[in-house]
Amino acid sequence: MKIDTIITGGTVVNADKSEKADVAIRGEKIFQVGKGLAKSAKTNGAKVIDAKGCYVIPGGIDVHVHLALPFCGTVSSDDYNSGTRAGARGGVTTLIDFAIPYGEESLQDAVDNWMAKAQGIACIDFTFHVAVTKWDRHKHEMAGIVKRGLPTFKQFMIYEKEGWQADDRAIFGALEKCKQLDAMLLIHAESSRVLDELIERHHNDEEMRRLGAQLHGITRPNFIEAEAIQRAVKWAEVTGGRLYIVHMSTADGTDIIRDVHKRGLKNVFAETCAQYLVLDDSLFAGKDGHLYGCCPQIKKKSDQKRLWKGLKSDTVCVVSTDTCTFTREQKAMWQGDWTKIPMGMPGLETLLPIVYTHGVLKERLSMKQFVDKCSTTPARIMGLGDRKGVIKKGYDADIAIIHPTKKIKVNHATMETNADWSPYQGWNLVGFSRTTLSRGRVIVDNYKFCGENGWGKFLPRKTAGHL
Ligand code: URP
Ligand code: ZN
Ligand code: ZN
Repeated sequence: MKIDTIITGGTVVNADKSEKADVAIRGEKIFQVGKGLAKSAKTNGAKVIDAKGCYVIPGGIDVHVHLALPFCGTVSSDDYNSGTRAGARGGVTTLIDFAIPYGEESLQDAVDNWMAKAQGIACIDFTFHVAVTKWDRHKHEMAGIVKRGLPTFKQFMIYEKEGWQADDRAIFGALEKCKQLDAMLLIHAESSRVLDELIERHHNDEEMRRLGAQLHGITRPNFIEAEAIQRAVKWAEVTGGRLYIVHMSTADGTDIIRDVHKRGLKNVFAETCAQYLVLDDSLFAGKDGHLYGCCPQIKKKSDQKRLWKGLKSDTVCVVSTDTCTFTREQKAMWQGDWTKIPMGMPGLETLLPIVYTHGVLKERLSMKQFVDKCSTTPARIMGLGDRKGVIKKGYDADIAIIHPTKKIKVNHATMETNADWSPYQGWNLVGFSRTTLSRGRVIVDNYKFCGENGWGKFLPRKTAGHL
């Protein structure tokens, strides 16, 4: 039997099992996982990748990414070139971006626009969630989007000025539609009206001069997220629609989701992002505090602690990044007014290293849980579970090989991202991908990107929200 590539001598870690095994790859697929495969493959002239002393894991699936997003008066600076290279270098082999309609565009227009940004450029596989921003018009278009292979929709409770905001009527209706269509609704949960009120109370020259970027945290107490999650959960409960809370950042939100699960609701899920697990809002007081502005904002150490615990207990099912990169020049648009910060941070390149270093090495997560939260569950919940997120015969040969202890100091200047800063600058992280394979092809070798634009394929999906 012709084998193209064999990964030998590593520890293969799936969400349910860790074993010393070789991985044989034929074409784009995993052909066999087992002991002693290397010997026969070598004689057949297969390419041999030595993974001795390393973990061999399914490539990361980052389900929350914004590349080349027009937002906050500018366009996020990582596009499908730099963003997918960054992903590859971090061991991420699939990403899900958000196709967002602008002005009078239809949902199909939004998908066309995002497809044009990605196709022929992406170095790793990709697909999109589709934002429903104008309910009365877009509700008629959702079925067609599912037919196009995109069964995940997104609504934002904030961003009125961007024209993206969804009210309760739209969220309720979208959940009903998702139920009919076997689809899932992703929600950015923050209480808009109270948030507007708190922003208005503090939006004055004196406070901005004195507190600068700290006002971002001051105007978004935890109840802003918690109330919004609670409300979305109620609409999911009464409609039966599948709901996925994106970028959950608070202990309060985690408690709500735990209680929802305790009550037996199986249609509510929550992700958090790497930054909420390791960064806290004391950063806003620093000279570069505004660089860390994202929505929702990074919270307190107590929130980090609760989110890690929520991951361990499966209250939180996914870690993503919400990558939305802005350069220092773009961030400087804030000019001392926190409401004008282009919101978002780079993240794709450091997802696995952050979760491995601060999760696995600090014994907050097991190695299998790390794989589960960064690959297996993201794949399954987003409808990619039949081909991604597992190292098993028949699955796409998307693989990251990581050394268990080798530290790399984060330096934005040597990274693939377009960002000219990093929230983790100078941090020593373990878990960067030594070797990344995307559908059988080596795209990172010895920690360096060696893939190709256009290699990444669009991934159509049938359904979402099933675990
Ligand atoms: O600050 C963020 N998160 N920027 C991207 C848009 C969003 O809300 O996900
Ligand atoms: Zn959001
Ligand atoms: Zn986002």
